Amino acid sequence: MTATDIARHAPSLPLAGRAKDLVGSMIDSSTSLLAAQTHDIVRFAMGSPADEAVPSEEFREIAGTILDASSFTYGATEGEPRLLELLVKYLAGTPDPSSEDRLVITTGGMQGLDLACKLFIDPGDLVVVESPTYTNGSATALSYGAQLLEVPVDDEGMRVDMMQDLVAHHHRPPKAIYTIPTFQNPSGVTMSLERRKALLELAHRWGSVIIDDDPYGLLRFSGQDIPTFQTLSPQDPLLFSVRTFSKILAPGWRVGWVDADPSIRQLLINGKQAMDTCTNVPNQHIVAEYIARGGLDDHLASIRVLYRERKDAMLDSIARHLGDRVTTTNPEGGFFLWLTLAGEFGEIDTRELFEVALADGVAFIPGPALSPGGRFRNALRLCFASSTPERIDEGIKRLAGSLEKMVA
Ligand SMILES: Cc1ncc(COP(=O)(O)O)c(C=O)c1O
Repeated sequence: MTATDIARHAPSLPLAGRAKDLVGSMIDSSTSLLAAQTHDIVRFAMGSPADEAVPSEEFREIAGTILDASSFTYGATEGEPRLLELLVKYLAGTPDPSSEDRLVITTGGMQGLDLACKLFIDPGDLVVVESPTYTNGSATALSYGAQLLEVPVDDEGMRVDMMQDLVAHHHRPPKAIYTIPTFQNPSGVTMSLERRKALLELAHRWGSVIIDDDPYGLLRFSGQDIPTFQTLSPQDPLLFSVRTFSKILAPGWRVGWVDADPSIRQLLINGKQAMDTCTNVPNQHIVAEYIARGGLDDHLASIRVLYRERKDAMLDSIARHLGDRVTTTNPEGGFFLWLTLAGEFGEIDTRELFEVALADGVAFIPGPALSPGGRFRNALRLCFASSTPERIDEGIKRLAGSLEKMVA
């Protein structure tokens, strides 16, 4: 049921006008939908790390020793001091070094997106989003009353070259540009250097904030790093970076961070205080202790190998079971690839395919769920990260069977 339908069915309740813009997430809803199934399902739907990619033994051990009096009380809104200190040290060795005056620990990347929109989006503001995009992010902008403008994505990321013309139709510059520049969710593509530079230039011209959402950047398994926005434009006040430990450690901890201009740090803290006071304290301690033990780089190195193998396995299975009846992206990192139906499958609506495939034991996210305007009916997102190569092959075989059933 859409939010508008719900609002219509609850006429006696004094819902806020914005309630109709709470559109929900098929991505998140698939967690409970799949949990409710009793038959075997190959899970390509959620963007979750593989069980084997979570350092669970070490977490168990840390969790058994970490609790002290400070675990049971409120923590600082900006984040636990030890985690902030360790994060600054860790980031010093990455493409995006930072300092404590720029960082606020968040309850996952989602809260970073919420804070960005809370600070920058007024009702009616134009917000550019990629098409397709991570619709939890676009939904966050919608929940603050944004008017969304979808800009297509190709193999070099967002079509920044088209943005100016598309924006011109709206007779006002965008307040924010929401991008997932590296190993984009859902397409897996990475924005080229030229487009990154062009995007920065347009943002400067318009005074638009760049909401740079990058949960996957540390998961490159092939190709060359492309300079980040921070590298290209250090200390740029228009850059608002959203980061998370969800994909590199474990999403269940709900620990992430934002990196933003120091002039808005207090506003971020005020905004977060109106949401959750502080991020779960024991979880921050566990993440901090994990970083302090020095294993994060080795962990990243090993999961990059795992994910590369799985991406290759998925492309190989797709070639064998689906051949030229589909096209795909070929990501150099991250969790996802984007599959477009072609030839005899080209007319299939992936929302209908979803029902058939679920019954056949394979789950994915249909394309229309990854575009605010419901585009991409003949495309879908596959997460290669969470299944073994054997399960991937089984899942793609099942998907091919479902597709064949639909055209029979
Ligand atoms: C692009 C993108 N941004 C943000 C998030 C949310 O991250 P978290 O689970 O840490 O809230 C995700 C998770 O799938 C994502 O893919």
